[in-house]
Amino acid sequence: SDFDLTVRNARIVTADSEVTGDIGVRGETIAQVGQGLAPGRIDIDAQGGFVIPGGIDSHCHIEQLSSMGVMCADNWLTATQSAAFGGTTTVMPFAAQHRGDSLRTVTRDYLASAARQAVIDYSPHLILSETDAQTLGEDLPALIREGITSFKVFMTYDRLKLDDAQLLDVFAVAAREGALTMVHAENNDVISWIARHLIAAGHVAPKFHAVAHAPAAEIEAAHRAIQLASVCDAPVLIVHVSTAGAASAIASAQMLGAPVLGETCPHYLLLTADDLDLPGTEGAKYCCSPPPRDAASQEALWDAIRRGVLKLYSSDHAPYRYDASGKLPHGDATTFKQVANGLPGLELRMPLLYSEGVRKGRIDMRQFVALTSTNHAKTYGMYPRKGAIQPGSDADLVIWDADRTRRVTYSMLHDAAGYTPYEGREVTGWPGVVINRGRVVVENGALHAGSGAGRFIPRGAPAPVLERRAPSERAQWMRSIFSLASHRKNS
Ligand code: URP
Ligand code: ZN
Ligand code: ZN
Ligand code: ZN
Repeated sequence: SDFDLTVRNARIVTADSEVTGDIGVRGETIAQVGQGLAPGRIDIDAQGGFVIPGGIDSHCHIEQLSSMGVMCADNWLTATQSAAFGGTTTVMPFAAQHRGDSLRTVTRDYLASAARQAVIDYSPHLILSETDAQTLGEDLPALIREGITSFKVFMTYDRLKLDDAQLLDVFAVAAREGALTMVHAENNDVISWIARHLIAAGHVAPKFHAVAHAPAAEIEAAHRAIQLASVCDAPVLIVHVSTAGAASAIASAQMLGAPVLGETCPHYLLLTADDLDLPGTEGAKYCCSPPPRDAASQEALWDAIRRGVLKLYSSDHAPYRYDASGKLPHGDATTFKQVANGLPGLELRMPLLYSEGVRKGRIDMRQFVALTSTNHAKTYGMYPRKGAIQPGSDADLVIWDADRTRRVTYSMLHDAAGYTPYEGREVTGWPGVVINRGRVVVENGALHAGSGAGRFIPRGAPAPVLERRAPSERAQWMRSIFSLASHRKNS
C-alpha cells in the first residue's frame, strides 16, 4: 500500500454517492478509495463519521478594495486561515480591475500576493470595470487561456458599473473565448433614486440601505442580464441572489434551456432586513448588497436550492471592520450610502449550511456536498481535480464532526473583521480535520499550514460553456458583427 496518508472507517459522502470505507492518499492526490486499506504513514480514524470533499468558496473578497476604495479587512493570510478552519480548501476571490487599471498587472500582483500568503489553494476570478480594446481584446483572452476562466461584472456601484452596451461587449468575448460571466445584478438608477429621496428626507440610518436596495432593483437587473447574455448566447451566472423574483427569472431561463446559473449566500438564508434595524450605526454590521430580505424570501431561496435552480452557495465574504477603517468611514455620521458593503462569512459558511440545512431537514448530505464543493468545481472548470473523492483527485478532505454544537462568538473565528453577524447562534456540525492536497491543515482546532503553502489552481472550461449547445445562426451573426474596433472606452 505505502500510502502517505489514510482516512479510514469513514462515511464517504460525495455529491452523488455515499459509501463506508477508507481513503488512501499518495503525495497530493487520492490514490485509492476502498475497504480495508492498510494504514498510511499518517493514519486518521474517522470513527464512522462523515468525510466529504474540501469546501470550495467560489465567491469571496480577499485583499480587495471595495467599490468606494476601502481595503477589506482580510489579506490572503487571514482569509485563507479562516477559510481552512471552516472546512474550505479552495477559495475563489477576485483580482479586481478598478477604472484605469491594467487587468494584466492587477492579476499578476494579486497572484503574487496569494503565492506569498495563502495557506490553502486558490483559483481567482477577475473583476472587469473597463471594456477597452486592451482589456477585452488582449488581456482577458490571454488570462482565460492561462486558466482564469470566469470573471465578474457589476450593474451597480458608480465606480464599477457597466452599461448595457458594455455588458454586451463582455458577453460577446465570454461566448467566443469560453468563459463564464458572473453578474452583480442590481439596477443602479433604482437604488440611487430611492436613496436620494431617503437622504433628502433625513433617513440615513443603516436600515435604509435595505429600503434603497429594493427587491425590484435586483429582479429587473437579473432579467436584463439574462436577456443581454442571451443576445450573445453567453452563459451567465447571477451571483448573490436574494429575492424570489431573481430566483424565478433564473428558473424560467433554465426551463427554456438557457445556460443561466444562480448563486446564493448564507446571509440571504439566515438574516433579514430587520437585522439592519439596530440603534445608531450598529446596523452597518449587516449592510451588504443586495441586502438580506425577509422570511418569505429565505423560504423561496431554500426552495430554489432544493429544486437545483441555485446550485452555488458561497460566502460572499467581504469583511470590513466596524470602525472608521471599514464600515464607518465617517464614524457616527456615516450614512447608509457611505457604509462599506459586505459581510464576513468564510469560516461559518459550511457549519451554517449544515446546521440550518441538513440538521433541519431542508437538504440532505449529498446536497450539502454539492452546494459547498462539487457544484463549484464543476461550474468553474476544476472538476474532478477538486470537488470529488476519487483516484486522481486532489486529496482535499474534511472529516465532518456532525454532532458538535458550539455557540458562535467572534473570538473563536480567524478572520480580521472584528465581529460576526452570527454572534450568539447555536451551530451544530463543524469541520474536525481539514486536509488540502494531502496536507493536514487543521486538526484539533490548530492550524498546521504556513503562508505560501496554498497553490494556484488553473481551470478549464466552465460547465455551462461545455454543456452549451451549438450557437444558433442568429448567435453566429452576432459574433461575426462583434468587433473590438467598436469598443468604446468608458469614461
Ligand atoms: O455587499 C457586498 N456583497 N459586497 C461585496 C462586493 C459584492 O458586490 O459582491
Ligand atoms: Zn456583488
Ligand atoms: Zn447601498
Ligand atoms: Zn461579492
